[in-house]
Amino acid sequence: MHTLFDSIIDSYLEHKVGIVENFLNPSLSNHLKDNLNLLYIQNQLLDAGTGNDIEVNHDKKIRSDKIFWLDRIHQNKYENDFFDLMDRFIIYLNQTCYTGITGYEFHYALYEKGSFYKKHVDQFRNNKKRVYSMIMYLNSDWQIGDGGELCIYNEDDCQHISPTQGKSVFFKSDELEHEVLLANKPRMSITGWLKVD
Ligand code: OGA
Ligand code: NI
Repeated sequence: MHTLFDSIIDSYLEHKVGIVENFLNPSLSNHLKDNLNLLYIQNQLLDAGTGNDIEVNHDKKIRSDKIFWLDRIHQNKYENDFFDLMDRFIIYLNQTCYTGITGYEFHYALYEKGSFYKKHVDQFRNNKKRVYSMIMYLNSDWQIGDGGELCIYNEDDCQHISPTQGKSVFFKSDELEHEVLLANKPRMSITGWLKVD
């Protein structure tokens, strides 16, 4: 497990964007994908907003994904396995990098065909608690041409990251501008933030 944690931390330190394969093992990502599919079929996903409680904004011209927050209160085995993994990751990150992370929040995200999320940074203007962004992709048969790449900006350049199952991406929430390109078929992920109080 620590090898995996070291890989994403090393990749982050070297490139400002940490990328690692198999952060979620195939079984866990399949189960989480099934959860998300079920939530979608049951109409439980919400239109995602931008901003937070104080300035929330449901502008479909900015983002058009649908979300559902994970919570231990659901008593879902796979959400709990996911949180157990994140708990271990945060302990390791705090011990090795003195990051002082005290909490997190994660939501499922589903981009229907034709959805996107325009260029943005993840930290809110009126709340600096989000320190690191972390995304886990759940798409097992993603092909070139399916779109939906995460595009991370570095001045005028843009690093394209395909949202393939098992891949996890990790970066600072306050500095990197990024966007999700138009998805040509349903695109699934878990996205979240490691936070300080
Ligand atoms: C976000 C975000 C990227 C992705 O939800 O803030 O930038 O690849 N997601 O899903
Ligand atoms: Ni973002």
